[in-house]
Amino acid sequence: VEPAVEQVGERSGRPVVGIVGAGQLARMTIEAASALGINVILLAESAEDAATEFASQVLVGEPRDHGQLWALAARCDVITFDHEHVDLDQLATFEEAGVAVWPSVEAMHLGVDKAHMRATLVEAEIPVPAFVVLADTEGTGSVLDRLAAFGNGAGWPLVLKATRDGYDGKGVWPVADIGEAAIVCRRAHEEGIVLMAEELVPITAELCALVVRGPTGTSAWPVVQTHQVNGICREVSYPGTIPQDVADEAQRLAVRLADSIGLVGVMAVEMFLAKRRLVVNEVAVRPHNSGHWTIEGSNTSQFENHLRAILGLPLGTTEPRSPYAVMVNVLGDDEGTDPSLHLADALAVRGAHVHLYGKEPRPGRKLGHVTTCGIDPTDVRERAWQAARALRTPVPAAPATAASQ
Ligand SMILES: Nc1ncnc2c1ncn2[C@@H]1O[C@H](COP(=O)(O)OP(=O)(O)O)[C@@H](O)[C@H]1O
Ligand SMILES: [Mg+2]
Repeated sequence: VEPAVEQVGERSGRPVVGIVGAGQLARMTIEAASALGINVILLAESAEDAATEFASQVLVGEPRDHGQLWALAARCDVITFDHEHVDLDQLATFEEAGVAVWPSVEAMHLGVDKAHMRATLVEAEIPVPAFVVLADTEGTGSVLDRLAAFGNGAGWPLVLKATRDGYDGKGVWPVADIGEAAIVCRRAHEEGIVLMAEELVPITAELCALVVRGPTGTSAWPVVQTHQVNGICREVSYPGTIPQDVADEAQRLAVRLADSIGLVGVMAVEMFLAKRRLVVNEVAVRPHNSGHWTIEGSNTSQFENHLRAILGLPLGTTEPRSPYAVMVNVLGDDEGTDPSLHLADALAVRGAHVHLYGKEPRPGRKLGHVTTCGIDPTDVRERAWQAARALRTPVPAAPATAASQ
């Protein structure tokens, strides 16, 4: 039997935020919460997760564990999320029972299901790459027939994507022709993965528009340029090389989307620029890797503003604090080196803001990041990479996209 929501709120008077998931996003949210005297309770899959060592309280369980979710709801004022591995129907029952869940279950749907996300963008008349969802439905021809028809129009190569549970390029498969596509489709069918296919966009730059919406309105951080290699973000730069009119348009689209879905919290809108054509690739309704630079690079970080928004507090201003900022992700090297062993070398780099997530080192895993700010773009970028290299991150030969590998 589920506890009645009225009975469960024995609170200290301090705001209490419950986070489903305990990765690095939760960890950095706790840093921001600490400054504001906000308590954070986690529902962690493992007691070893990145954020657990700093939380007020940790519940251990799957993000779909009904009992533990109720226990979390009972102990906090608002539930929010570190990731999207949630059951929306289950969360809807919490919402209906009067639990504050922000972003709302409806907004979370965008982050959970790329097919729904794209349909919502089309509905809002926001440009997206040409795409088709390849669900195993009867009566509309086989998946491969529909894919072949789509490929005839959009042109090969195409990109196949899992509509759910993808991250860091896992779940993104560029395919040259119908033969390669058939292999991916067969494997996806066996694993119960619903695919979508989309045109391979001839990307000239990737950018991200980060916004926050709360009771005092919608605010946007300046648009940044992102660099992905094999689908994983390696570097984020503000302002990067995005033309100002494109950045303005990107920001307008993101704000319009936030308002149209009644967002509460932070949302990141990833976009592709192909010459002058701007399309939205995907949406995350939570703090995002492309916004880590805001911790030192802007007046209010994405983590603090997410907390302010979901607790109904006034939002902080989002202006940058310096003309240039660069964030470089620290990925695990092939030897499984722990970057914290090299902390002193990274901190010796002038102005390097080092964040290590305390995660077990594994090749290619995001273990931390470094941010630098300043007035000379070349110097700022060099110092960020210098510190990241000191922490033993592998250095990519050249930034490239998943689809060009
Ligand atoms: N249609 C596409 N055309 C070209 N590159 C793409 C396309 N879709 C994805 N990519 C590349 O792969 C990266 C990861 O894809 P994305 O859809 O964002 O998945 P994830 O959920 O893993 O972030 C993108 O940032 C981009 O570099
Ligand atoms: Mg992405």
